[in-house]
Amino acid sequence: MSRPKISVIGAGNVGATTALMLAQLELGDVVLVDILEGMPQGKALDMMEMNPVYGYDVSITGTNSYEETANSDVVVITSGIPRKPGMSRDDLIATNTEIVKQVTENVARRSPNAILILVTNPLDAMVYIAHKVSGFPRERVMGMAGVLDAARFRSFIGMELGVSVENIHAFVLGGHGDDMVPLARATTVAGVPITELIPADRIESIIQRTRQGGGEIVALLKTGSAFYAPAVSAVEMVDAILRDKKKILPCCVLAQGEYGVDNTFVGLPVILGSKGVEKIFEIKLTKKESEELQLSAAHVKELCDHIEKMSGK
Ligand code: NAI
Ligand code: 2OP
Repeated sequence: MSRPKISVIGAGNVGATTALMLAQLELGDVVLVDILEGMPQGKALDMMEMNPVYGYDVSITGTNSYEETANSDVVVITSGIPRKPGMSRDDLIATNTEIVKQVTENVARRSPNAILILVTNPLDAMVYIAHKVSGFPRERVMGMAGVLDAARFRSFIGMELGVSVENIHAFVLGGHGDDMVPLARATTVAGVPITELIPADRIESIIQRTRQGGGEIVALLKTGSAFYAPAVSAVEMVDAILRDKKKILPCCVLAQGEYGVDNTFVGLPVILGSKGVEKIFEIKLTKKESEELQLSAAHVKELCDHIEKMSGK
């Protein structure tokens, strides 16, 4: 039996870190693609040279072409420009739309059965583009954002209460932007909602920090955006798919009526398994939560409409 094949497009900070973590978990053979000549080859060779120390036999291939990606099981798309200080994720839209279009065409042609995980920002709009260009069913095109946003929320709650992050389960809905919707009442510590453990004003400030978690790192790094937590979040999705875990994770998916959102890509909890998004996991929202989710979905829709206008269709 051959190992699963995972292609990672874009060998920059997020892509290379994702490839490294995939190899460290021995999830499959990894193909790392970038337009920069020599760079993915050099990073892949460097990672291959870790194998003897770890005792691993996975192969990591770096390339500037798509031939090596053929028949991938999962493709993680990270290619594109990241934010610099003062830029919003939406500022990236024009450049990254063209990159994601071109990458998706190349990937989908050679791996027609692959599951696509988008990372490039603005995330929800890029999932829309990849779904449209690939023609893949919604089950096989998704975006990574909610796992990262939930991990940030969990980290901040752990810091606040001084408890293990392992005891914290967070619930985050909505687009990957400042209007994401972290659900406090469905976020628990050892099964107890945080609303019973943390005062309301502190919860509100933790939610604000979570919403601005990406920007906080951009402001510190100055030359780019976060990549360790984003990479491991993408890897958690790949792991759930390749090991058919049926794990409930917040992912950007095409909502078709679920949570009252129709025909829009937005972050929702999904059951992830070998078929990709196997089901959207629905819970009843309060009126306020539902309104916040609708607002977030409307923002994604606006971006997608803007992309359509830019491309003159
Ligand atoms: P980076 O600049 O370190 O890497 C991007 C790589 O993409 C570069 O190596 C570049 O050469 C490559 N690239 C550009 N055009 C390409 C093409 N046509 N084909 C193949 N490769 C191409 O950026 P970083 O930090 O890795 O971020 C990548 C993207 O991921 C950004 O758009 C960033 O905003 C986004 N991001 C999204 C997150 C999320 O939660 N969804 C979290 C972190 C980053
Ligand atoms: C983040 O949230 C840049 O979207 C990326 O860190």
